Amino acid sequence: MLEIDLNAFFSQPVRVIGLGVFVLIFIGVALRKNRKVHPPIMITCFLVDLALVLYLEFTRGAIKEAADRVMEPMMLIHIIVATLSIGLYVALLITGTKVLRGAPEKLQRIHKRFAITFLVNRVAVLATAIMVSTPPAA
Ligand code: HEM
Repeated sequence: MLEIDLNAFFSQPVRVIGLGVFVLIFIGVALRKNRKVHPPIMITCFLVDLALVLYLEFTRGAIKEAADRVMEPMMLIHIIVATLSIGLYVALLITGTKVLRGAPEKLQRIHKRFAITFLVNRVAVLATAIMVSTPPAA
């Protein structure tokens, strides 16, 4: 049985920041109709998410650990959804910027489709991150 210890998972500040970004994404989406507020919130989420990945890599060799454990099915799923989320962020940045600059309505529908895929994907990233996490050293 897979045991999930949320207390242990969120005992690390970097993971609490990650949860903060997760919540901020949904706040940004709730404010999607506001063209002054929505883009800066989403860009902030992207930059903080990217900074977290770099921090984890430089302090804990997260990418090497993932590569070492790639044979574990849940780790493989985590790597796939986490990589996809970066691509989806880029797609949202590109389509969002074009919508801001007055692209035809069709592009806003494409932005919306990317957004729904991204949100489902982002839930999967967090869920699988919790599942593959190792308890912090005492
Ligand atoms: C993770 C990133 C993002 C998500 C999940 C997201 C999500 C959404 C969603 C769900 C909508 C509503 C679409 C509709 O109902 O037709 C929307 C609209 C919009 N988004 Fe984003 N977005 C993201 C990033 C961005 C970025 C980076 C920009 C600009 C640089 C941007 C600009 C816009 C604009 C201009 C609209 C239309 C607002 C309006 O209704 O007038 N988005 N976004």
